[in-house]
Amino acid sequence: MQRVISLIDMDCFYAQVEQRDNPTLWGQPVIVVQHSRQGVEGGILAVSYEARPFGVKRGMSVVDAKIKCPQLNVCHVPIGEYADKADIQKYRDASAEVFRVLNNFDSAIVVEKASVDEAFLDLTVYTQQKLDELRENEMIEDFVRTAIDHLPTTYLANGEDCKENDHLRERFLSEYISNSQESTENLLLLIAACAVEAIREHIHDETQFYCSAGVGNNKMMAKLVCARHKPRQQTLVPWRYVKEILRMTPIGDVRGFGGKLGNRIQEELNISLMGEILETEIHLLIESFPDQHEYLRAIAQGLCDEPVRPRKESSSIAVSKNFPGRLAIRTVQEMRKWVEGLTKELAKRLSTDQMENKRTAENLVYSLLTEEGKPQKTLKINNYQPDILLQQIWTAIKPQNKSQNQGETGPWTPPVLNISLSATRFQPGIPALNRTISGWIEEKKHKKWVRKNAVYDENDGREDVIFEEPPPPKQQKKICSSKPSTSTIGSVEYIILDDSDEEEAPPPPPQKTTNIDYITVDGKRISRQAFYHLPPEIKKQYEHRMALEEARQMKARIDEKRGGGGRKRNGPIKSDASNRSKKPKPLESFFKKKTTNL
Ligand code: TTP
Ligand code: CA
Ligand code: CA
Repeated sequence: MQRVISLIDMDCFYAQVEQRDNPTLWGQPVIVVQHSRQGVEGGILAVSYEARPFGVKRGMSVVDAKIKCPQLNVCHVPIGEYADKADIQKYRDASAEVFRVLNNFDSAIVVEKASVDEAFLDLTVYTQQKLDELRENEMIEDFVRTAIDHLPTTYLANGEDCKENDHLRERFLSEYISNSQESTENLLLLIAACAVEAIREHIHDETQFYCSAGVGNNKMMAKLVCARHKPRQQTLVPWRYVKEILRMTPIGDVRGFGGKLGNRIQEELNISLMGEILETEIHLLIESFPDQHEYLRAIAQGLCDEPVRPRKESSSIAVSKNFPGRLAIRTVQEMRKWVEGLTKELAKRLSTDQMENKRTAENLVYSLLTEEGKPQKTLKINNYQPDILLQQIWTAIKPQNKSQNQGETGPWTPPVLNISLSATRFQPGIPALNRTISGWIEEKKHKKWVRKNAVYDENDGREDVIFEEPPPPKQQKKICSSKPSTSTIGSVEYIILDDSDEEEAPPPPPQKTTNIDYITVDGKRISRQAFYHLPPEIKKQYEHRMALEEARQMKARIDEKRGGGGRKRNGPIKSDASNRSKKPKPLESFFKKKTTNL
């Protein structure tokens, strides 16, 4: 049986993170630039889609980019709070938000984190379950008839789908849908495409980020076609078009062929397209690639059986800094300064991880690269407090100084070229000793129950409600009084309704959209007032979340002023009426949308 695989990739990810942080940047040309080193501006890491038509590209110098697009907004990757190095934590945090949505969407979907901004999904089991449900309920025909309405941003990769043929999107897709009942494989892909539309919409609802996707029968094809219609769109590649698409695909565009191997193939065989691998005489292929010729021919035919591997959290958290050449560390003070900076950085990341993943590291490995070797040692840790960690690490590292002087000043020998601190052996749970955010919250939560929804602050005698349950889930729009048959694809629950039985559900309770007075933490709300009572080290970690919430609401208000629709997926940035969600057809009343609680 063929598998059903999708690759979801965030659009201009770092740029979107910056746009969300500062909502006035939405819709504007934006670049994200590596922080400068020794006065030299860093390279461009991400380019918003608004800046791309000007010719602004990753890797270009900021000066050149500004010449091409004078109204360009330049954002910088923050510099670490404690160590003079790029701090990409905010992009990691944004990534974690996206993965939270992906991991909670449906337990039948296998999710593999492929990078900070992309994930492979194995939808084989999920789509088969959905197909069985549709068949049991005799709903296949209805599903197929209305599928087009649930695929507002989907393209069919048939070899003719290109920017110039945008107007044919709906025609190609409709043709595919109308023939989809010819084979189970096609139906499964169609169900997957609907689900991926829904997943992408959920990602946007939960994070405000847009993404694109590819849907196909293996990782290689899903990844390849994902890039075919970016941004804010997805591409479906049925198996029968795979060969045709690969025939015209530049070798470097295929996953795993963008680097050395791809270059070697092109140079040694004097070819540039995937299809040309199959046209190359077999003895020439064997001559140049004796160990890989079979693999290359398989890939050129779109055959790839690499499984989607569910990846849990990383098994170590590390910070590291290089001191090459004349930058090598040569004094005790310098060494102390860097060990301190890196320890604080590590402690911050460990606390965040502890809260996110409810786990605690047992070991800490320090390793130094010196001109004479690579001393390293494993320490047991039982506390994430930066000061305690620092004392432990410094005590262990200090004897590595081989100079006569063993004090807190003087030379350090041999000179140090790299310092790495890595926390490993994570155990589930949070020890009581480790009073971090989660611990503190648990404690306050406990108080809440004792004091009936109020926390009494011992210092100023004020009573402050800290935790509330989150608002009730959104109501299903329509309810059905007769016994309905249902089938859920993505977040869309298809319900057979007898029209005469329809009645409007009561309107949801009004929700506050202005004056943020809370943030949501682990599904609970913490009031702004309570926030000010947090211990300083905990407060700092939440300030970022507060800023995000504020930005989210500011963006909603701006969208509202501009005529609404900000929370809706608007299709591509370029104007493309054919790509918008169609007005519901009369048949639409046959299918109802259900809000899934994540
Ligand atoms: P990509 O997914 O390669 O690119 P992108 O998301 O910016 O744009 P696209 O819409 O074309 O997918 O990378 C994801 C993020 O990773 C990117 O926003 C910035 C970061 N990144 C780097 O820091 N260095 C790099 O060399 C690359 C390729 C990406
Ligand atoms: Ca991306
Ligand atoms: Ca990516």
